[in-house]
Amino acid sequence: MSEAHWHDAGPADAVPDGEVVGCQLAGRQIALARLGSECFAFDAWCTHGQAALTDGFVEADGSIECPLHQGRFDIRSGKALCEPLEQHLQTFALKIEDGRVWVRLG
Ligand code: FES
Repeated sequence: MSEAHWHDAGPADAVPDGEVVGCQLAGRQIALARLGSECFAFDAWCTHGQAALTDGFVEADGSIECPLHQGRFDIRSGKALCEPLEQHLQTFALKIEDGRVWVRLG
């Protein structure tokens, strides 16, 4: 995939440890979450309903809990971990360069 698909998602220090933040990239709502020194990017919308995972809760086990029906996804893989979720979450490649977060879409 070409370098053109990487999008600048802002400063890395704007993603606090154990929290989730949202950003708009190429017309898409993307969620960014940090687990320790690592950051992860995934679709900001729950696969079960119209709930923004940016309003969700990052759990100590590395999952994010949807604020609407408490479905949980693995932040690293996007895997749906429990009911009522039936579809996994799309995740995106992420890199940090010169203190900025870059997310690859496409
Ligand atoms: S909308 Fe997320 S679990 Fe139902």
